[in-house]
Amino acid sequence: MRAAACLFSVLLLIFAVTPAHAQQSPSTAEYCGDCHREIFDGWKQSAHAAAMESRLFQDALKMAGEDFGEAGRKACLACHSPVGVMLEDFSLLRKVSWEGITCDYCHSIREVTLSGGNPKARVEFSEVKSGPSKEAVSPAHGTVFSKVHTSSLACVSCHEYRNALGFPVLTTYAEWKESPYAKEGKQCQSCHMYTVRGAVVDPRVKRSSQDEINFHQMPGSRSVEQLNKAIHVALSAERKGDKLEVTVKLTNSGAGHYVPTGSPLRQLILEVRAEPYGGGQTFREQRVYMRRVADQKGAPVEREHFAFLRGAKVLEDTRLAPRETRSEKFSFPILKGRQARVVADFYYYYSPMASTAAQQKVKFLAISRMVQ
Ligand code: HEC
Ligand code: HEC
Ligand code: HEC
Ligand code: HEC
Ligand code: HEC
Repeated sequence: MRAAACLFSVLLLIFAVTPAHAQQSPSTAEYCGDCHREIFDGWKQSAHAAAMESRLFQDALKMAGEDFGEAGRKACLACHSPVGVMLEDFSLLRKVSWEGITCDYCHSIREVTLSGGNPKARVEFSEVKSGPSKEAVSPAHGTVFSKVHTSSLACVSCHEYRNALGFPVLTTYAEWKESPYAKEGKQCQSCHMYTVRGAVVDPRVKRSSQDEINFHQMPGSRSVEQLNKAIHVALSAERKGDKLEVTVKLTNSGAGHYVPTGSPLRQLILEVRAEPYGGGQTFREQRVYMRRVADQKGAPVEREHFAFLRGAKVLEDTRLAPRETRSEKFSFPILKGRQARVVADFYYYYSPMASTAAQQKVKFLAISRMVQ
């Protein structure tokens, strides 16, 4: 007994001091960030790092558990905590399970397959990290060049998704694939992981000749700057008798997919208002760009967990395709001879389940004209 216990503690000790071998445990982002400091700082600000800690997601995860049981919860964790799922840590007891889409997950992707069902990434945790460079040499770990990391394939396993009903809930990759950007060779990384100045590793670890890194913050719709890159707008207004005719021409000029893309609850909202100068009634009108999704009975889905698990058909799709231009016309009864101010406001709406106003929507653009 004593010998067995002793051997057991020796084994424990071996595992404790050599946690890193074969299909080993994934490392935390803090471990990687000790050397890759500037990359860590970018990632820490990303939606990927917040994919688990997000209040919006945690609320939705709880509802998925209540409405669809453990299987529903697990379906969500597959993308929001891919490491937790691989470790079968469904009670979420380990820190790394809370890191969302963490360093070691992406840099342990070995292969991505598109055939048969949803796209799948083969992930192998080991001493070797896969990345975009053929020359990188690290004293801390092996490195292997991975073509996947230089292309949209690095993103497809989570940004393209059909649920168990066969309904395509997320189609960002497919939208990109059919867009002019794919033909031009512009990958997801071109717009979301563009290069910025920075050190790949802390110079105290290794002095690198390279002074640029890929921006790991991967800004998307939470970035007002990205939203402004996505939409180009022209506003014009003219008098026609006792009507003020307004035209808003909007183009999806900078997104490599539809705007909005991703979750069906996202919306782009255009609000136009005409204010007569010196008081009087203000007129308002809205246009909403979204993909309205319903369950099998035709009831529109209004929560993320229903969209992901019960989405079954598209009722209406008014989103802007890549490089598409649309002209919206408005007509307001503002009498001749009155000066008026015309304003077009653009909002990006995230989710009806958001608990604060800032989490629910953001105004990212406003333009106006005075009309005689
Ligand atoms: C195939 C991967 C995948 C699965 C499975 C998945 N999600 Fe997501 N989820 C995403 C992606 C990607 C986004 C990011 C935004 C987008 O594309 O709209 C997202 C965004 C969200 C958001 C919005 C978060 C925010 O900060 O705005 C919520 C809430 C959410 N998911 C809840 C869920 C729930 C609940 C489930 C399970 C029923 C689930 N997700 C399953 C990939 C997934
Ligand atoms: C002790 C320091 C150290 C730690 C810890 C560390 N790395 Fe590295 N890593 C390096 C060095 C040095 C390089 C080589 C950089 C070069 O040659 O420009 C490197 C290179 C890489 C590359 C290759 C880059 C390329 O261009 O292909 C990847 C990917 C990478 N590390 C990921 C990680 C991940 C993920 C972790 C955590 C699991 C991690 N590293 C932990 C020091 C470290
Ligand atoms: C393991 C799954 C996974 C992989 C791989 C992945 N993502 Fe994501 N991504 C997510 C999830 C989940 C979210 C939503 C997080 C949230 O808001 O809760 C997200 C959010 C985003 C966002 C939205 C940010 C915002 O402001 O709304 C962008 C942009 C993004 N990912 C780009 C990428 C790109 C580019 C790649 C490939 C280099 C990639 N992702 C790979 C799961 C993944
Ligand atoms: C969503 C997936 C994803 C996550 C999460 C992620 N990376 Fe990366 N990383 C990539 C991709 C893709 C590239 C290559 C981009 C390219 O070449 O266009 C890359 C590039 C790198 C490189 C090479 C240098 C450079 O900037 O190109 C290093 C080193 C690296 N990542 C380390 C990390 C570390 C450390 C973390 C966590 C703090 C991390 N990565 C998180 C996908 C990811
Ligand atoms: C030509 C530049 C460009 C390319 C290529 C591109 N994107 Fe985007 N992406 C944007 C812009 C700009 C936005 C902000 C507008 C928006 O949210 O619709 C955005 C937004 C997003 C969002 C946020 C959606 C949400 O629900 O919050 C995700 C996720 C995303 N992109 C993923 C991807 C993925 C995955 C790819 C590759 C398959 C990709 N993008 C290719 C420019 C691009």
